[in-house]
Amino acid sequence: MNQVAPIITADAEPLPTPKKVFVKTYGCQMNVYDSQRMSDALAADGYVGTEVMEDADLVLLNTCHIREKAAEKVYSELGRIRDLKNERRAEGRNLVIGVAGCVAQAEGEEIIRRAPAVDLVIGPQTYHRLPDAIRRVRAGGKVVETEYALEDKFEHLPAPARKVVQSRGVTAFLTVQEGCDKFCTFCVVPYTRGSETSRSVAQIVAEAEQLAGAGVREVTLLGQNVNAWHGEGPDGRDWGLGQLLFRLAEIPGIARLRYTTSHPRDMDDALIAAHRDLPQLMPYLHLPVQSGSDRILKAMNRRHTAADYLHLMDRIRTARPDIALSGDFIVGFPGETEEDFADTLQLVREVGYALAFSFKYSPRPGTPGASMKDHVDEAVKTERLVRLQAALAEEQAKFVNSLIGKTISVLIEKPGRQAGQIVGRSPWLQPTIVDESAGRIGDIIDVRVHGTGYNSLFADPI
Ligand code: 5AD
Ligand code: SF4
Repeated sequence: MNQVAPIITADAEPLPTPKKVFVKTYGCQMNVYDSQRMSDALAADGYVGTEVMEDADLVLLNTCHIREKAAEKVYSELGRIRDLKNERRAEGRNLVIGVAGCVAQAEGEEIIRRAPAVDLVIGPQTYHRLPDAIRRVRAGGKVVETEYALEDKFEHLPAPARKVVQSRGVTAFLTVQEGCDKFCTFCVVPYTRGSETSRSVAQIVAEAEQLAGAGVREVTLLGQNVNAWHGEGPDGRDWGLGQLLFRLAEIPGIARLRYTTSHPRDMDDALIAAHRDLPQLMPYLHLPVQSGSDRILKAMNRRHTAADYLHLMDRIRTARPDIALSGDFIVGFPGETEEDFADTLQLVREVGYALAFSFKYSPRPGTPGASMKDHVDEAVKTERLVRLQAALAEEQAKFVNSLIGKTISVLIEKPGRQAGQIVGRSPWLQPTIVDESAGRIGDIIDVRVHGTGYNSLFADPI
């Protein structure tokens, strides 16, 4: 796969074979976006991507530190890559190993101490310096780059070529904000991604126009606290995400907009109004709550109560009645009793989530939660997670089943797994399988839902 043949010029001198990079991405959508931007920065330096690690001259792991399991996966993968590096060395070739992302930011040099085969450690704020860092590695030596320079990154990351955007499909991510100032007591993000920083309106609009020009129909705005985004609008006023969404909706070609991930404290009136008034803004909102117990919410430093959250969800539903609500939950935070957990189950039933993500609490080094008293037994966490996920699965099934018989619009994204099928995306994110005669990739068509799978839909063209 992705074998690159040497190019033969007129005088039959083979050009050097391009260097190949294999990027493996862990964690959230922002890491997916960052991996693309790292690939773009390396493409400008002559690298081509490969899907096969064994073919690569450079392996980059873009890592996640959010839970212990995610971080530990990286070290087991590094063990395998070290063996590959040794094989290469025996053949007289070099394989450069880089660790990027949140583990790189959190652990820095420690990664090279634990995994000496690693050549480069680069934090998320420094990707614009990646080609230079790799040149320094190739010149001999180890490189650790974890200094914050978010504005620099926003300013200097190269835009991908039109062809590259096209190869990535008709939906795209666009980072508008990075970092977090909320300091929830369970969370490493404020330490790995730094403080809340917004990209400028001009940068965001330019990138969105470029995506639209290459055929992208749906853009998902990304940020660790995306609804904390703000910036000076062309009218000289301070804009929030609501105003930004209205501006992006004016770009020809962009038919659908989404954003993730939000904090309840930053859902302002203008953003709720955008859900009411902006047809391009898809009726889907991921708004993590983490727990339904006020006691635990306080210990988590969420700075809202369960009632605040329910009230907010009501206001959003009133503004956009067909909205699908989604959330994140943590079970077994220190001190969580059976009663606290019952409050979480109660909240799940009250909201009626269309989709949700739930996790066992994982103590993270350096966060206040890790040193709290009354850590919950692992077996209790597991048992609560099973019960929570059963409740969430029921709510999710209710939601997809409510779509049967309805006419919905889907954006056609890719060929289906089976011949004769194509896969589109519903306004509420469910993959929707339709006969391929229904339209072409990039089309937005109306279909009638006739069946459901686990968070997927089967539909007929109308
Ligand atoms: N343990 C378990 N889950 C966590 N999350 C964040 N930090 C932790 C942790 N220490 C979850 C939260 C967050 C999602 C991205 O990951 O639910 O919203
Ligand atoms: Fe993981 Fe958070 Fe980093 Fe994303 S920002 S990769 S979820 S730790």
